[in-house]
Amino acid sequence: MTITVRPIDETDHGAINALHRFVGWPERSEAGWAWLENNPARLELGAPAGWLLEDADGDPAGFTGNFVQRFHHEGRTLYGATGFSIIVTPKARGASRKLITTFNSQPGLFAHYTFNANAVSAPLYKRYGMVAWPNETHALKLSWRIDALACVEGRVWREIDRRAPRLTEARHERLLNPRLHEPDALTLPHGVSVLTDLEDDSRFAGFWDALKAEGKIVADRSPEALRWRLADPDLTLRPLLLAYSRDATIRGYAMAMMSKGNPIEPPMLEIIDLIALEDEAKAVPALMQALLMNARSMGAAKLRIQMVSPDLLRRLGPLADSARREGGWGHCHVKFGSTAPGAAVWSPTPFDADYGICLRPVPVGAVERQAA
Ligand SMILES: CC(C)(COP(=O)(O)OP(=O)(O)OC[C@H]1O[C@@H](n2cnc3c(N)ncnc32)[C@H](O)[C@@H]1OP(=O)(O)O)[C@@H](O)C(=O)NCCC(=O)NCCS
Repeated sequence: MTITVRPIDETDHGAINALHRFVGWPERSEAGWAWLENNPARLELGAPAGWLLEDADGDPAGFTGNFVQRFHHEGRTLYGATGFSIIVTPKARGASRKLITTFNSQPGLFAHYTFNANAVSAPLYKRYGMVAWPNETHALKLSWRIDALACVEGRVWREIDRRAPRLTEARHERLLNPRLHEPDALTLPHGVSVLTDLEDDSRFAGFWDALKAEGKIVADRSPEALRWRLADPDLTLRPLLLAYSRDATIRGYAMAMMSKGNPIEPPMLEIIDLIALEDEAKAVPALMQALLMNARSMGAAKLRIQMVSPDLLRRLGPLADSARREGGWGHCHVKFGSTAPGAAVWSPTPFDADYGICLRPVPVGAVERQAA
């Protein structure tokens, strides 16, 4: 069967959602797709928001999204993109080749990558010129167990689903709890505060300037970029932003969001960003301590970070040793452009990847319905 590939447009949202439904992934609202399409970095580059596969009759047969971000390096603006939500239906079997080679051949990027491949898609990327990267950590995810009982219940539900899927087919949300809806007040360690001011002249803007001045490749964390991220209309709970300050200056920050992978997974507190100035050794441990101290009262069964760089692993220190090691299939692959400044100066976090836009938000409406 002839399969063709073309850039998506705003009339394709229904077809893209149908493909997500087909593989059991969360769908976006119309406003959510429109928000993603209006990603300022993508518009600046003039890149497609994704590509659709079509069969000979013009019916949708697959999709991949294209999440473009601005990066900064030594005073220059660069662009990088991650493919996300790659789906190929059985009738287009093998057509991931078309999607990935199209994604990889778009111009103007210092890096084409995915840091969120699942075990099924992980082997695909190296067929098309992408390499497993970062060398030491491309297969590593870290998690800290917060609520052992909820983790056990989640395992039981997974086992039931594996043996008798009909019992869980009703898509009834399990493992919700009232803390998701009404978390206790936060308890924060010395130096850590909740970050609310994302104005262009805020203390956070000063942190962003200091981060850029360090000479590494950093994904755009300007106040404007964070405001755009937080405006995702499909978020059900506002992500938690924490700042680590010394002498009234922000020296590190973290962003974490509650997610629930599917109706039978327990809620997780997922770290989307964790970054600090190079000479601030206390920031990452203090921000992590804050997340560990509050994850339970926010309703999480685990605290998790789904990708780590060697640099972050070093900064986590003993905290990394206390984590459970998840993953293992190699979820990170990259193809660097020929003039890329070099892998040594880029230490991506989940912020650089698609986690912030792909994780399934906790269905808060379902929490309210079950509490009623
Ligand atoms: C992961 C996924 C995108 C891969 O799609 P794909 O393009 O069909 O994958 P492959 O290229 O490996 O092809 C599948 C098989 O068809 C074979 N194939 C390749 N080209 C073919 C062709 N023209 N005709 C028939 N078969 C073909 C491949 O050799 C492969 O065989 P194998 O399973 O024995 O190795 C698809 O399985 C999918 O949508 N899965 C669900 C969603 C998902 O998990 N996505 C990953 C998100 S991170």
